[in-house]
Amino acid sequence: MARNGRYAHIVGWGMYVPAHRRTNDEIAAMVDTSDEWIATRTGIKERRIAAEHESTATMALRAGEAALEIASLAPEALDLIIVASATPDYLFPASACIVQDKLGADHAGAFDLSAACSGFVYGLSLAAQAIETGAIDTALVIGSETLSRFVDWKDRKTCILFGDGAGAVVLAGRNQRGGVLSSTLRSDGSGGELLLVPAGGSRHPASLETLANNQHTIKMLGREVFRFATRAMADAARVVVEKAGLTFDEVALVIPHQANSRIIETATRMLRLPEEKVYMNVERYGNTSSASIPIALCEAVEEGRVQPGDNLVLVGFGAGLTWAAAAVQWAVPWPVVPQPPQQRVLWRARRVFARLRSGWRRVGRRIWGALRWLQGKRGQPSAEE
Ligand code: COA
Repeated sequence: MARNGRYAHIVGWGMYVPAHRRTNDEIAAMVDTSDEWIATRTGIKERRIAAEHESTATMALRAGEAALEIASLAPEALDLIIVASATPDYLFPASACIVQDKLGADHAGAFDLSAACSGFVYGLSLAAQAIETGAIDTALVIGSETLSRFVDWKDRKTCILFGDGAGAVVLAGRNQRGGVLSSTLRSDGSGGELLLVPAGGSRHPASLETLANNQHTIKMLGREVFRFATRAMADAARVVVEKAGLTFDEVALVIPHQANSRIIETATRMLRLPEEKVYMNVERYGNTSSASIPIALCEAVEEGRVQPGDNLVLVGFGAGLTWAAAAVQWAVPWPVVPQPPQQRVLWRARRVFARLRSGWRRVGRRIWGALRWLQGKRGQPSAEE
């Protein structure tokens, strides 16, 4: 896919998941279900739930910081930050801007990307293309979700599936072949009603009625989504392998969106792949939407299942409907050379400084605003004049 001889390599990766685990048994105490039903139908055993002080942006920040540290890249060197999320902190500003501010990534553009569970691969593909054209040289691509805040904890058909977390990669331009070799982005909006949160946007803004009708939580037609997901995953994986000039024999590991073990197993059979070539960690985190692929990638790397020179296929599918895949050639050895202690201290200091500077800027803006207001007051003729 490279143009100008530039390739977008993954040079850093990081993940963050909240500490609190919610097991199937705990869900079985909330709705009419069982650990056995959930485990056999979905493969999920537990998921993480964000604490009150955590949100999509705070988790994205933690994953992004970890990825930058592995890449040994200072936040100021970033050209672009993309946060893929279906559950952003606000409609606006973008969660990516919150991350940019807290990182102190002063030279980076930042935006959120809405493509549900395919969002991370969409972001990876777009950032890689920007690097290949020479428009930018570095990018931080994050998938982050706080789905627990949009789950209807009384609906057993959906509440068993989702979890919270974030994963990130740093992309950097290099002249040697590798990195993102090919990608495909697809959509079919006619399937929009299969998986949606009906209210809270401009079509049905929040109102007492939308609240009373429970329209701010995830609604899903599970069977239809299942059928779409298996086909989409297999098709997209085939496309990117072919586009990259590879065969599946040359692919070391497929890292699919972790929605359901049965979806992954069905697609694995459709692609005639041996099980060990397909990564799965859905049992620990459930479906974390856009975060699931980068979280799985991090764990696969740290388990030693990804080696320099390996070809990987990342493949996602989700609401929209959307689906996407990318073929990636890995370049960085694991374990990475540990950073000297002084470097770690420097990273910590950098973080603290970025937070402080963000605070000063906010306070400064308020003081400036107040001064302007006072100035205006003084300059204005009074009512008696
Ligand atoms: N515990 C016990 N029973 C449950 C249940 C639960 N958590 N959820 C549903 N059931 C029941 C249903 O009420 C239904 O009972 P009925 O036949 O008496 O009406 C029965 O199980 C079968 O329901 P169905 O929805 O057809 O089950 P399923 O085999 O399709 O499994 C999903 C449901 C959600 C696990 C499955 O459809 C799925 O994983 N779909 C894909 C969802 C997904 O991945 N979405 C995100 C994509 S990014």
